[in-house]
Amino acid sequence: MARVFVSRRIPQPAIDLLRQHLEVAVWDALAPVPRAVLLREAAQADGVLVMLSDRVDAEFLDAAPRVRVVANMAVGYDNIDVPALAQRGVVVTNTPNVLTEATADLAWALLMAAARRIVEGHKAVENGTWGAWHPFYMLGQDVYGATLGIVGAGRIGAAIARRARGFNMRVLYHNRRRNEALEAELGAAYCTLDDVLRQADFVVVCVPLTEHTRGMFGAREFALMKDTAVFVNVSRGSVVREQELYQALRAGRPWAAGLDVFEVEPTPKDNPLLSLPNVVAAPHIGSATLSARTEMALLAAKNLVAVLSGQPPLTPITLT
Ligand code: DGY
Repeated sequence: MARVFVSRRIPQPAIDLLRQHLEVAVWDALAPVPRAVLLREAAQADGVLVMLSDRVDAEFLDAAPRVRVVANMAVGYDNIDVPALAQRGVVVTNTPNVLTEATADLAWALLMAAARRIVEGHKAVENGTWGAWHPFYMLGQDVYGATLGIVGAGRIGAAIARRARGFNMRVLYHNRRRNEALEAELGAAYCTLDDVLRQADFVVVCVPLTEHTRGMFGAREFALMKDTAVFVNVSRGSVVREQELYQALRAGRPWAAGLDVFEVEPTPKDNPLLSLPNVVAAPHIGSATLSARTEMALLAAKNLVAVLSGQPPLTPITLT
């Protein structure tokens, strides 16, 4: 029987599924598996189910000559050196679709919280600094009728855009390729990145982290945004130059930010961004609902079972 290693405690239905078909070893903890343990376990495995915090690279491959399939329990796969794995004939899979709606909900939660100063307001209530009502107290930005700019109009970007219909918003988007289905469905307008930045009241980033998108948002891009705009990032922290975002937010352009992802995760508590009242931060919880996480684990498990029983993977990552 083929053997797999699962690098974290994951929802039980996925372990049960794996055990029906394979010999299974699990790092049954919520903390990341130590690198040495990952390499040692991978050495005896035919497949691995890994998390976005596990690096799967040439060193891993050298330690794991038997591994034929790597199933990432995430849609993003910047933790995996896909070309190196492809070169050695190792199949790589991710978990698209099953987390789309959960992540789109979280993007909206950040957008709304940043626009209406919910965290700052919560702190004022909690700290007793809530003063008398006055017409200018804690003014935020209108969401209804505003312009939404989506950068990265894949599945998650489209799901975020779809929710904008309820807010009567104009939708602009920028993507590597035009998304004509989105244009037809929502009347979304395709724009250059700079035009999205200039025109949008809310810029939501959903691009994957690649060599092209690393550091894509810096001082130049923030300077193009409105001084009333809200910047939301639910993709990967490294698409943003954090220090430049900090300076930009301090200078008031963009007006606020909602961030689910950071350059370093967990981000240190002295990250200067966290000192700003106009930042709403979340600890990378885009897909953090029980149903999304269960479906992600199940999909990763199904990919392992398929490949190790000689079937094609359900959701392979292919080199583009
Ligand atoms: C992903 O899947 O890439 C998310 O960032 C984690 O759920």
